[in-house]
Amino acid sequence: MFGNGNLKVNAAGHLEIGGCDAIELAKEYGTPLYVMDEMIIRNNCRRYKEAMDKYYDGYGLVLYASKAFCTLAICKIVEQEGLGLDVISGGELFTAAKAGFPMDKIHFHGNNKTPDEIEMGIDYGVGRFVVDNHVELETIERIAREKNKRVEISIRIKPGIDAHTHEFIKTGQIDSKFGVALENGEAHEMVAEIKKIDNVELVGVHCHIGSQIFELAPFEHAAEILLNFIADVKEKYGITIKELNLGGGFGIKYTEKDDPLEYDQFIEAVSKVVKKICKEKGLGRIFMLMEPGRSIVAPAGITLYTVGNVKDIKGARKYVSVDGGMTDNPRYALYQAEYTAVLASNPKAPKTDIVTIAGKCCESGDLVARDIKLQKTQTGDIVAVLATGAYNYSMSMNYNRNTRPPVVLVNNGKPRLIVKREDYMDIIRNDIIPDDL
Ligand code: LLP
Repeated sequence: MFGNGNLKVNAAGHLEIGGCDAIELAKEYGTPLYVMDEMIIRNNCRRYKEAMDKYYDGYGLVLYASKAFCTLAICKIVEQEGLGLDVISGGELFTAAKAGFPMDKIHFHGNNKTPDEIEMGIDYGVGRFVVDNHVELETIERIAREKNKRVEISIRIKPGIDAHTHEFIKTGQIDSKFGVALENGEAHEMVAEIKKIDNVELVGVHCHIGSQIFELAPFEHAAEILLNFIADVKEKYGITIKELNLGGGFGIKYTEKDDPLEYDQFIEAVSKVVKKICKEKGLGRIFMLMEPGRSIVAPAGITLYTVGNVKDIKGARKYVSVDGGMTDNPRYALYQAEYTAVLASNPKAPKTDIVTIAGKCCESGDLVARDIKLQKTQTGDIVAVLATGAYNYSMSMNYNRNTRPPVVLVNNGKPRLIVKREDYMDIIRNDIIPDDL
């Protein structure tokens, strides 16, 4: 067992995921190929749900942050596991609706929801709008009034916490495009404004401090800050906020350097803080939500590539070029993200090379991993990049008019296609040659 505990080496000496031989998968579906292990996704959902039951008496809901990986099949799996869903766009909401996801368990996020998206959310009857700003509040109020509907909302608060993670994925500090701040009174102004409106009801507060975080303290701290705010709101405005959403952001293992906590520990730690402060401040019982994305799906996924050319540049670097790259995994290009890779035909062989896995785009920064250890590889080999289940497919793109890879769900030796490979017709599907051109 290696990777995040879901990978094996089979009798043929090949990499195995979900009981399927990676080399066979590559043959059957072609490369690049995303492979997702269904049981890992389900087990991770269960892990969070059980922790909510155990440490918080089940008085809460775990929402899967679908931005990490959103398809019809994943929405179905998440629903079957009893989780709710965090969506961030009309597209994610549409996907959830088409998968038959219960709307009351959907929380609609986003720092700049368009009026169309807001209308869609109201028409679909999403459980909660997580309101980011005044313009959004006004738009919700106007559309709800026109439709004679009442909308339940949470407000997204910047608790002023600086989590230790990459600049682009931290969100809790005052200098962030997300939500309203506490320090400068914005959050209070928002509450005062909501109080004046009668078709919008304030039921919750929300924060998300960042992503790929390995410590408990920032979450405990965030809980404390938001509960103090809930107490303030009760005292100043007479509004009882009954829901606390502490977001996601729990870190996972990409390389040996990462030392993630057990997922239960986050819920265990914040549950203690929430119970204690609620008691001290006489807040009663607060319904608790958490929104893990990455930690549910990232460890379940791998990406299989075929090696094209290998350039061993004397005095510089050894490049192993693969048939994908930033178009299926832009995370190195965006965050200098680090990954582990193995030779799928012989993952047990010693990693004797230091290589840079390069993509096929016309872009020097198109790398999947830089200077990592790998077995000796040659043209035609299948390389597996591990822990790619989150923010890979969901962030994929068609740069250079490359087609997006398919996604195969594996379980108990059985592969099932859940996203098919794009073809060149998909590439030109929306192109138009005007009649007069
Ligand atoms: N809730 C909210 C409001 C969020 O903004 C996010 C992530 C999550 C939950 C889930 O966070 P997670 O558990 O997945 O860390 N593209 C970046 C990550 C961006 C995260 C955006 N928000 C990456 O590839 O690292």
